[in-house]
Amino acid sequence: MKTFLMTVLLMIAPAIQAAVHKTHWGMVDGKSVDLYTISSPVLSISVTNFGAHIVSIEAPDKNGVRADVVLGFKDLNGYQKDTKTYMGSVVGRYGNRIAKGTFAIDGNVYHVPANDHGQALHGGTIGFDRKVWSATVIPSGVELTLISPDGDMSFPGTLTAHVRYTLESSSLRIEYTATTDKPTVVNLTNHSYFNLAGKNSGTVLDQQLMLNADRYTPIDAVLIPTGELALVGGTPFDFRQSHPIGERIQARDEQLKLAGGYDHNFVLNGEGLRLAAKAFDPRSGRSLTVTTTEPGVQFYSGNFLDGSVLDGDGRPYEEYAGFCLETQHFPDSPNEAKFPTTILRPEQKLHSITIFAFGVQK
Ligand code: BGC
Repeated sequence: MKTFLMTVLLMIAPAIQAAVHKTHWGMVDGKSVDLYTISSPVLSISVTNFGAHIVSIEAPDKNGVRADVVLGFKDLNGYQKDTKTYMGSVVGRYGNRIAKGTFAIDGNVYHVPANDHGQALHGGTIGFDRKVWSATVIPSGVELTLISPDGDMSFPGTLTAHVRYTLESSSLRIEYTATTDKPTVVNLTNHSYFNLAGKNSGTVLDQQLMLNADRYTPIDAVLIPTGELALVGGTPFDFRQSHPIGERIQARDEQLKLAGGYDHNFVLNGEGLRLAAKAFDPRSGRSLTVTTTEPGVQFYSGNFLDGSVLDGDGRPYEEYAGFCLETQHFPDSPNEAKFPTTILRPEQKLHSITIFAFGVQK
């Protein structure tokens, strides 16, 4: 009987819609900013239409105790004040770096304002993380829309971008679509910092990570890829088997020194929607499995968190307080002909999926 009931429950589970609850959070540029909480029996996620940020993800540990497993702030003011961590936001129009902010499409040269050591990072000085998106509640989630005008941060073409956050049982699905009216470049990703033991529980150095990548893209002194697709074998970048994040982070390795830890794009094996990464926290038993259609993932170990950004309760976010797994096209692709292209043309539609699935392992 028990088995029969369980089978019936599992069969109807996908049909159970997650509840969506909207609360007013404040105003920015005369536009309403709201917090949308999407809850399933297993997970509760809140997102805001300011910068399309993921504000919290409450996930159970091996004893069923919930904790917020992403770094963030309590209120809108926290997100407005923080202009350097990109905590939880959707970064765009071009997530990650473009060398000197300069690129060309069809012989036309564009200059995005440089905001990171002479390079353009996460879309320039006012990226998509600073914008108020419009929002529509959809079954089990919310769809956010941003119309980025022609010339926004010097990028060509009016870009219409949609991000759909939906929750199915213990998985958060993020679906990005975009169209343009002139050839442009696009790279959209979510910039959540995960700490599977719960935010403000210390560093993530003991949390384990597996990355489905035989190669990564080494960087230069300003964190721009050299163009090489280097093999990870025999280096601290080999995460094909699970390793604690901190195990080799202090190794004598030129690449780790340049970034003060991990801040590199990994070239994912395979194509289509497939495994990108698995993370596991031995203390709480929480696990995270990332699948994506993107060719790469930026594994960033929170090296530039330096205690200067405080959470809503005044506690500092210190170095290695969270790790990011930013599924993406490779950094500086507009200047690297051999990287998968990030050019979007008017006759095309960008479509990209990333799923963050939470679980427990005893
Ligand atoms: C980059 C880091 C940068 C961080 C900003 C990451 O995506 O790779 O270099 O410092 O974003 O918070």
